[in-house]
Amino acid sequence: MDLSPWLVLLLSVLVKAFVISGDTNGGVDTGLTALAASWDTRPSNWVGINPCEDNWTGIICNGDRVTSIRLSSFGLTGTLSGDIQSLSELQYLDLSYNNGLHGSLPSSIGALSNLLSLILVGCSFSGEIPKEIGHLANLKFLSLNSNKFSGPIPASLGSLSNLYWLDLADNMLTGGLPIFDGTNPGLDNLTKTLHFHFGGNQLSGTIPFQILNSNMSLIHLLLENNNFSGSFPPTLGLVTGLEVLRLDNNHLLTGPIPANFNNLTQLEELHLANNKLTGPLPNLTGMNSLNFVDMSNNSFNASDVPAWLTTSKSLTSLYLENLNISGQLPQALFHIPVLQTLKLRGNHFNGTLNIGSDFSSQLDLIDLQDNQIEVYAVEGSQYKKKLILVGNPICTPENNQPYCTTTGQADQDMPPYTTAKNCSSLPPTCPSDQTLSPNCICAVPYKGTISFRSPSFSDLSNISHFTVLEQQMRSVFSENGILLDSVSINDPFFNTNNNLQMSLELFPSGKAQFSQQDISEVGFMLSNQSYKPPRGYGPYFFIGQDYSFANELVPSSKPKRTDRTPLISGVTVGGAILVAVVVAFVIIIVRRKRRPVQTEERSQPFDSWHIKSTSSSVPQLHGARVFTFVELKKITSNFSEANDIGNGSYGKVYRGTLPGGQLVAVKRSQQGSMQGSLEFRTEIELLSRVHHKNVVTLVGFCVDQGEQMLVYEYVPNGTLRDSLTGKSGVRLDWRRRLRVVLGAAKGVAYLHEHADPPIVHRDIKSSNVLLDDRLNAKVSDFGLSKPLGVDGRGNVTTQVKGTMGYLDPEYYMTQHLTQKSDVYSFGVLMLEVLTARKPLEHGRYVVREVKKAVADRASKDLCGLQELLDPVLAASPSAPAGLEQYVDLALQCVEEAGNDRPSMSDVVGEIERFVKMAGVGTGADSASGSLVSYGSRSPRHPYSGDSPFEHSAGALPSVRVEPH
Ligand SMILES: *[C@@H]1O[C@H](CO)[C@@H](O)[C@H](O)[C@H]1NC(C)=O
Ligand SMILES: *[C@@H]1O[C@H](CO)[C@@H](O)[C@H](O)[C@H]1NC(C)=O
Ligand SMILES: *[C@@H]1O[C@H](CO)[C@@H](O)[C@H](O)[C@H]1NC(C)=O
Ligand SMILES: *[C@@H]1O[C@H](CO)[C@@H](O)[C@H](O)[C@H]1NC(C)=O
Repeated sequence: MDLSPWLVLLLSVLVKAFVISGDTNGGVDTGLTALAASWDTRPSNWVGINPCEDNWTGIICNGDRVTSIRLSSFGLTGTLSGDIQSLSELQYLDLSYNNGLHGSLPSSIGALSNLLSLILVGCSFSGEIPKEIGHLANLKFLSLNSNKFSGPIPASLGSLSNLYWLDLADNMLTGGLPIFDGTNPGLDNLTKTLHFHFGGNQLSGTIPFQILNSNMSLIHLLLENNNFSGSFPPTLGLVTGLEVLRLDNNHLLTGPIPANFNNLTQLEELHLANNKLTGPLPNLTGMNSLNFVDMSNNSFNASDVPAWLTTSKSLTSLYLENLNISGQLPQALFHIPVLQTLKLRGNHFNGTLNIGSDFSSQLDLIDLQDNQIEVYAVEGSQYKKKLILVGNPICTPENNQPYCTTTGQADQDMPPYTTAKNCSSLPPTCPSDQTLSPNCICAVPYKGTISFRSPSFSDLSNISHFTVLEQQMRSVFSENGILLDSVSINDPFFNTNNNLQMSLELFPSGKAQFSQQDISEVGFMLSNQSYKPPRGYGPYFFIGQDYSFANELVPSSKPKRTDRTPLISGVTVGGAILVAVVVAFVIIIVRRKRRPVQTEERSQPFDSWHIKSTSSSVPQLHGARVFTFVELKKITSNFSEANDIGNGSYGKVYRGTLPGGQLVAVKRSQQGSMQGSLEFRTEIELLSRVHHKNVVTLVGFCVDQGEQMLVYEYVPNGTLRDSLTGKSGVRLDWRRRLRVVLGAAKGVAYLHEHADPPIVHRDIKSSNVLLDDRLNAKVSDFGLSKPLGVDGRGNVTTQVKGTMGYLDPEYYMTQHLTQKSDVYSFGVLMLEVLTARKPLEHGRYVVREVKKAVADRASKDLCGLQELLDPVLAASPSAPAGLEQYVDLALQCVEEAGNDRPSMSDVVGEIERFVKMAGVGTGADSASGSLVSYGSRSPRHPYSGDSPFEHSAGALPSVRVEPH
């Protein structure tokens, strides 16, 4: 018997065993396992050795490094272990809505240098906020609201120069707002931050004028319900981008409002109630965006009815209680077209109350209790909503009109809103753990409370505020792969913090329960603010309840994994080998078994994505041909292996020959993997409308017999990515690279500037640029693309999608999508063409590396890029022509602010210049020369490496899980 195969097997087994144990020692597994060890429960599928390979719920990886932990509403109890620091690649940590997580945050959290988002909303963490959070130089999003943190706001937060969102509201923080003290930074250094949400603490001292200057980008400044004292910040008028200002309920805030206050012309919501503000009543003339004004209960000088009262055309809600204002109320006030609520009690309004006949149709409360009104003149169509005049001279003891009671007159008092149940017949009786949804199905909803900190409206009797929200939420979640049957809202009311609070129930679609994975996604959408309410609802926070999973969480005390490490090191060498062999065999067998399932799971990260393929989901056509299943079966010789030219997690790609002889590529979605329906439709609808030689042509599609297939022109030379790595056998010298980049730029510029409506591709990357037989670049894969508004200039707010490494950080933070996001990705692609490296590899980000190299360069040679340049280029005897301009242009494309980036047509113009300089000739078809192949390997097919389903559908940018 020949033993050598066995020997080989044994050796490989041994190697494998040691490699695996090395992995686990390396950190990922130990970090996450240690983290979970400090919790009393853990998600039930947290078993196995490697969280990344073993598909742990709520975990996203890059390779075998954990990049994202999202476990909101998992009912976790316990503490946050200091071992978290070993998760060194972590970018997103979301443990929101786990009320049982307590104790202080470990200072080692400051070691997570890659962290972008730290979200711990609605837990029970206490103690001081560790100052080490200030070391997280990349942090953009910090939400610690609704915990029990005490002590001061650490001044070190001022070092977070990339911070966009800072929410510390609803804790027990004390002390003042830290500012730059000559050495250490303070909150005034956060010039990029748009949101300061600090309400509901015990913060005190004066509000430092330093944090209110024209360098600040603040749009929401929320300091309500604290103990701030001293004078009103005199420089507030300089923060001209401000949209929401809440300083209400500080009780001790004094002093006059500065004269330039009405320079805040963007201000929509103004809350100054319950302070001791003095001086003249502020002059709000010119603040034409104001919706909601509440200045009640202050100590302003006595005043006459101010003129701005009737000139503000967008006022919905005017609250001026107990302010010493006198005079007759002008009729024009009631004519403000969107006016809803007037709360004016406790002033000296006198004379006649004349609402007139064309008062705002939305007006539903006029509270004038305790004023000096003598006459109520009724004319024309009478006002029938609530009116309170008790405490005015008109309400003599003889006058028993309803408006002379403290409850006032009203047509009807609306009960609090509750979403109706739409049952066509007798509603079913639900099992005790389930609830009847508004669409009349029984399911376990995800529940929580949503609070809008500053809505633009106050008329809660107008149910459209809630029906609109229900519909919008349902569609936003569904667009993001979380299909909802319906959304139910209950009991909206303004709570004592003056937040509009309501309870919320989200019902799963097509199943009785959300999975753990669903809840991880849903919670993250809300905690990370990637769900945005419609305009006018203002900033919000959500507190989720624990979800009762069908799959119970498991106790954490006995870690599930076999801890092999001590085992291996703790026994004799001979024993070790034996053990290793046994363990490794087991591992291999287990892994073998799991692997196919796993691939499928990865392509389908959200198991709730089954979109019914109904006739209504057949996309709109613009010239693309509809194929039947039988036709495609025929042209691909029954999807034969010989025609199989690529494989992806979505399914397979086949070559086919149409009856006329045209070669096509047929992308066939895996049966049952319907989650791509939306992307499938998008791709057809957009691609069938665009025609350009640098955009791949869609020949047609097929939705038949439960299959979804796309038929493209056949592009023989694979992806740009494969050419850069040498995989496709096409060698790209510098001149060819310039030509390919130019072609791709033209394709993208066409989408931006000539397609109607303009299209943002959203997933520009080297694996989505295909090369034809003459190396013409063709932009492909429109699964994530978005048409822009009719004028094309507008931007759209959308769920962030794209591919990690190429994703525009501004788009990621603001969710505002514009063409400039593609420009960013294109800049990354240009750098990739230069370096031939993946944009994100081993924690190295090509943009950062190139910027650094260019900044540090000692000599002008190769722009200081010797180390980074693709060796193929660096090896050429002369420096690539136009390199310096090329690098400049690429770096302009990856400027942080979209406004600083060139347009794609500028990029085309620039590249045309280099191409001339490099002597390539601008005609796309000229000068390609003969292609040099490496060896005889046949090119891999373009579509194979790239699948629409590798994009993230959640709020995170796509993070590809690389196979080992
Ligand atoms: C913080 O702001 C102050 C004052 O604006 C400035 O002088 C200082 O350089 C800033 N520090 C940092 C680290 O940005
Ligand atoms: C008002 O704001 C503008 C910029 O929006 C600024 O130029 C002007 O100086 C400000 N006026 C006052 C009085 O602060
Ligand atoms: C309020 O401001 C406007 C414009 O700034 C000015 O014209 C008006 O006179 C001011 N009103 C009062 C009462 O100061
Ligand atoms: C991966 O996780 C999902 C969601 O928890 C689960 O449905 C699926 O069965 C898991 N697959 C494997 C291979 O563990």
